[in-house]
Amino acid sequence: VTISVAKSGGNATSGLQYGAMEEEINHCGEGGLYAELIRNRAFQGSTKFPSSLDAWTAVGGSSLSLKNLTDPLSTALPTSVNVKGTGTAGLTNAGFWGIDVRPQKYTGSFYVKGSYKGSFTAALQSASGKVLASTKVTSKSVANEWVQHSFTLTPSKKASSSNNTFSLTFDGSKASGGSLDFNLISLFPPTWNDRPNGMRKELMQAMADLGPKFLRFPGGNNLEGDTIEGRWKWNETIGPLKDRPGRATTWQYGETGGMGLVEYMEWCDDLGMEPILAVWAGLALNGDLVPEADLDFYVQDALNEIEFLTGSVDTKYGALRAKIGHPDPWTIRYVEIGNEDNLNRGLSSYKSYRFPAFYKAITEKYPEIQVLASTIDMTIPGTAGGDYHLYDIPDNFITKFDMFDSYSPEHPILLGEIAATETNNGVGIDWSNTYFSLYPWWIGSVAEAVFLLGAERNADKIIGTTYAPFLMNLDSYQWSPTILSFNSNPDETARSTSFHVYSLFNHNHMTNTLPATSPDAFGPLYYATGLDNKTNSHIFKAAVYNSTADVPVSLTFDGIGRGTNADLTILTAPDAFSMNEVGGSNIVKSKTTTIKAGKKGEFSFSLPNLSVAVLSTK
Ligand code: AHR
Repeated sequence: VTISVAKSGGNATSGLQYGAMEEEINHCGEGGLYAELIRNRAFQGSTKFPSSLDAWTAVGGSSLSLKNLTDPLSTALPTSVNVKGTGTAGLTNAGFWGIDVRPQKYTGSFYVKGSYKGSFTAALQSASGKVLASTKVTSKSVANEWVQHSFTLTPSKKASSSNNTFSLTFDGSKASGGSLDFNLISLFPPTWNDRPNGMRKELMQAMADLGPKFLRFPGGNNLEGDTIEGRWKWNETIGPLKDRPGRATTWQYGETGGMGLVEYMEWCDDLGMEPILAVWAGLALNGDLVPEADLDFYVQDALNEIEFLTGSVDTKYGALRAKIGHPDPWTIRYVEIGNEDNLNRGLSSYKSYRFPAFYKAITEKYPEIQVLASTIDMTIPGTAGGDYHLYDIPDNFITKFDMFDSYSPEHPILLGEIAATETNNGVGIDWSNTYFSLYPWWIGSVAEAVFLLGAERNADKIIGTTYAPFLMNLDSYQWSPTILSFNSNPDETARSTSFHVYSLFNHNHMTNTLPATSPDAFGPLYYATGLDNKTNSHIFKAAVYNSTADVPVSLTFDGIGRGTNADLTILTAPDAFSMNEVGGSNIVKSKTTTIKAGKKGEFSFSLPNLSVAVLSTK
């Protein structure tokens, strides 16, 4: 294939090309990125998932019972556990299917109510009962008040597995009435950037290595909620943890609210990601819609949320942000209205009154914000953009390579959820979910690469792309595949085959596309060409899908002469169905060579079938 790349005539890219998407699904936050180690720490319940003792067991002969006391810890956390026992009494937590124990400082706290003159013991132990770390906490507990206690635990050794538990015990004979009430029992390992209430380090490290440029949050279906009342409410995810009630996610478990709006923004700060904030848009997953006459409240709520994030401390919600510790406003440049409003009978109301109302209110108050519709299945008004999601078989990613060639840059598109989910079957995706792959697999990742190249070629029209869902706790998940998978053992995190593709493309960022011409049609070689004008590096990104032989390439960049060096990185895998699994090793082979431009400035190389490659001049 002969390719000639012009010197000019392309378009500036958004600068955001590859990002991340997060909603509470697959225990990606709770039991994942959110570093809290205690599962069901505050016995939070909802109609869908009533309060329970899930993850807790009684120590020795003590007994546990849930109580809704007349003087609860807070209105947000009305349920607590009463622990009753005569000798050593207490409770043990199984963590998010295990607790990783290694020589580092764990920071814990709990609230307790009841007269008790003695001490508590906080400990980590193995499945066989071996104590891995233990500390005594002198009681400050009194009869009619909730008193918070703090402690640290520093194990001296790494445990042989993450099959460990946490326990909190006391001497029941010294507790007045033989029992005490507990709530909000929390334990954190060291977090990324040492943030209190922060994020799990190795997952953040994986994300940092991937280098996402934006974060779309907080959903996804989980933003929408099963019902209108069950929607994700930003104002219930901020402030002290004891004031966050939590809620039922749309994904078969409850969330604590610990990873809330501020934590999302701090995550963006920590990884240098542009926030793409999705606001609730009047449609719940069960199809319930807010009628036009009642929509103002929700539009105002979205404006309040934006003010909370971006307003000066002189504004009502900016002052609230300052009060909870963030005087400096954040910047929000993108707001998406809802999620997949083309589904669940939502499209006609979305077109007729829901989207227009949010769009008008937000652009009037914040003209600098790029508002995005949650679909492209409609005529997008004014300067708004849209969001397109694609879950499909690999072959269908290839047929969509040129999908954006005919789009207009006036309405930029976010590719907010993209993943090859099941193997080629000649038809397409089966939404019964039965055949979804557990992990991304190589041919699927190569097919995604082809689609991403189609987006990069049209980078003036595409804001950026993100895989979805992003993370999965293998011990409890609802949707596979994901770009990262993990369990309670940080050493076993799997960076998927798609992770390696996104990472390669992301770390070779084009600021401008450059038009290419070729006598050969696209396929089996697909590519995008451009420039990083910060380094003046000329870039060629490619993928080979369904080729019967290696594809020879002769590539020239106008203005790049004989003898110029370029790095050529080629990703391959042992076979089309190879995947990276939790606890396994990386099967993606990455080979970088330096090649020199020939007499006519041509770079000559060949790419094998099912490969993904980047060439960048030096
Ligand atoms: O990514 C999983 C789900 O897929 C999202 O919640 C939803 O937006 C989409 O249908």
